[in-house]
Amino acid sequence: MKADSEKRIIGICGSLRKGSFNRILLKAAQENAPIGMKIELYEEMASIPLFNEDLELETGGAPEVVRRLRDQVKQSHGILIVTPEYNQSIPGVLKNTIDWLSRFAPDDILDGKPVAIMGATPGRWGTRLSQAATRQTLFSTGTLLLPTPMMFVGEVAKLIDKDDRLIDERTLASLKKVLIAFSSWIELLENRASQSR
Ligand SMILES: Cc1cc2nc3c(=O)[nH]c(=O)nc-3n(C[C@H](O)[C@H](O)[C@H](O)COP(=O)(O)O)c2cc1C
Repeated sequence: MKADSEKRIIGICGSLRKGSFNRILLKAAQENAPIGMKIELYEEMASIPLFNEDLELETGGAPEVVRRLRDQVKQSHGILIVTPEYNQSIPGVLKNTIDWLSRFAPDDILDGKPVAIMGATPGRWGTRLSQAATRQTLFSTGTLLLPTPMMFVGEVAKLIDKDDRLIDERTLASLKKVLIAFSSWIELLENRASQSR
């Protein structure tokens, strides 16, 4: 991806639920993105079929909905994943989406793509295991994961208002810090890539 002034980020929520806390966190990220970063929410995950190599053959690579996502990812400067934890791991819909994106043809779109991960849960322990599992999955794809800081939002229901907006000042401050770190991470990787050309 060519370096330019605006960083376009595709925001993927690992929950399909309408009232998803993770979607609320993703929207807060969108609203609090640093200057020069634009986060677009991916809205088609519910339409992505279960991964099946037969379907790859039948569709000449990938179904239309997956092709659209692959294009969006290719055009983006990075991916922000905001995901719940299901049974101490990555939700199936998110894993399925990553499996589709991880296929090489016609391009290896995840290789070298900057990624940041965060998550929210009504429980007390954040989404540490889900984030660890998502990182584990992404290691094999060549994505370049933001090393630190990580963002785990526990007891999230206490941090939002009646209009489902994240309003807790400390959480918003942490969110902004992670997004600034992600922006710097993308710049660092772009500079490194341009120096090696
Ligand atoms: C199948 C299932 C498994 C879950 N397992 C965990 C878990 O291991 N750890 C956790 O913190 N919350 C777990 N939860 C609770 C979710 O964190 C909670 O439902 C959360 O609100 C889901 O995210 P969302 O609000 O973005 O949809 C689980 C929920 C479901 C539906």
